[in-house]
Amino acid sequence: MAFNIGILISGNGSNMLNIIKASKSGEINSKIVTVVSNNSDALGIKKAKKHNINTKTINHKLYSKNDFEKNLLDHLKKKNVNLICLAGFMKVLSADFIKRCNFKIINIHPSLLPSFKGLDTHKRAINMNVKYSGCTIHYVNKDIDSGPIIDQEIVRITKNDNELSLKKKILMKEHKLYIKVLKNLEKNCE
Ligand code: GRF
Repeated sequence: MAFNIGILISGNGSNMLNIIKASKSGEINSKIVTVVSNNSDALGIKKAKKHNINTKTINHKLYSKNDFEKNLLDHLKKKNVNLICLAGFMKVLSADFIKRCNFKIINIHPSLLPSFKGLDTHKRAINMNVKYSGCTIHYVNKDIDSGPIIDQEIVRITKNDNELSLKKKILMKEHKLYIKVLKNLEKNCE
């Protein structure tokens, strides 16, 4: 099945750009029908525009949570989105929003869940002296970084790694993992 993907971002958008490129090159069959940011300064919005992708900014600071989510859902429905990909989206979606979306929502997180949920994952992994970290793509439920795991990639942490080097290593794996997961979802949702 080819999805109409809506990508939700808050910042840089490297995962977003990678998904856009995979769609444009035909590596995945799905189309990116919109990119939405909750943050008006998100660099990712400029990148999406360059690729002629529909974009929308809904500045969360200007709305109540309810109204923010209502605007978001209305926009996604208008664009016929049937798969939401969170890619560095820093707002927690409410249980009500998730219930009202009758399509899948997936998220990428830069750790091997269920370890290191939440923020500052790279720093916490380094400080805990763990030997392996990585990234996880999971379905989104009402609890942060807690929905069923779809797939993971492992990264070895060496003694020379710091927060930044680990972040870079994991991000490279994230890009590969997102495309792998999308291909599998397309195959499994015929
Ligand atoms: C990634 O590390 C992702 O796992 C996390 O936020 C970061 C977003 O990076 N949820 P980018 O905006 O895709 O470059």
